Amino acid sequence: MPNNSPSRIPYLDLQAAIGATRHMGGLEATKDLVCLCRVGPAHHVLDVGCGPGTTARLLAREVGCRVTGVDIRPAMIARAIEAARSARLGSRVAFRVADARSLPFGDGAFDAVLCESVATFVEDKPGLVRELARVTKPGGRIGFNEEVWVKPPPSDEYMAFMRHNMDVEPDLPAARDWEGFLLSAGLQDIETRVFDRADAGRESSQKRRYSLADGLRILVRSGWLYLVNPAFREYKRLWKQMPEGLFEYLGYGIFAGRVTVPHPKKDLPVGTVRSIYRQAGWDWTERK
Ligand SMILES: C[S@@+](CC[C@H](N)C(=O)[O-])C[C@H]1O[C@@H](n2cnc3c(N)ncnc32)[C@H](O)[C@@H]1O
Repeated sequence: MPNNSPSRIPYLDLQAAIGATRHMGGLEATKDLVCLCRVGPAHHVLDVGCGPGTTARLLAREVGCRVTGVDIRPAMIARAIEAARSARLGSRVAFRVADARSLPFGDGAFDAVLCESVATFVEDKPGLVRELARVTKPGGRIGFNEEVWVKPPPSDEYMAFMRHNMDVEPDLPAARDWEGFLLSAGLQDIETRVFDRADAGRESSQKRRYSLADGLRILVRSGWLYLVNPAFREYKRLWKQMPEGLFEYLGYGIFAGRVTVPHPKKDLPVGTVRSIYRQAGWDWTERK
């Protein structure tokens, strides 16, 4: 059902206006990604396509690391700066407008690089992996959480909805393609986890990414946009036309790898990592 509405607002611009983005698996998926990338308090982490800075704030607050977030949309970065200021995170987080395909950082600038539901919107995924690997220190890790089909979609209706209402080219790579992208960018120790959406607990953790104050701000902005912006109302109407069962076919994969080193640097000892996450109230033992 092609969407030719002239008043249509692009999916990610709408999220910027509300100040809320999402990735599949919510907070639980972020925790998995952070664990796979062995992020520790002394690290400087790059969050690529950070949206309104939700993951950056979480990491600065709960793991205690320094985080730089970049996003291609100035409106997202404005939201991220505003929210970090209200959370009083000081110099532990910084945000700037940048395109993930050509980052304004030198080689090896970061200890770890995270990318949550961003590559899905970028055509040249192998090129993106190479660019993220370039800005990661030798021995550091990069991790992606990206949409994959967990079983072949039965009809073009699903593809059309994603193309026209989510602005995603639905020809998504499979998990083994992702492993290939990481390997061909020179990464090693590749770890992969693929999830369908059957685990409702993981999906319900979407909301837990946001504080109560964030939630109230998002609610007020959505209500206001609904009242004043016809394109927003049109978007809501189109969203309701999502083909039934789309999310039975669409899942997500978490893919991480380590940037090759001539002399491999050691990870933080597992005991140290576990105690950091425990202090943050994250149940390490639940990780698979
Ligand atoms: C679905 S949102 C996910 C945001 C955030 N990572 C999260 O998990 O909530 C995708 C984000 O990627 C950003 N984005 C898309 N293409 C980008 C690019 N080439 N460079 C940087 N950011 C990009 C969008 O502006 C948007 O904020």
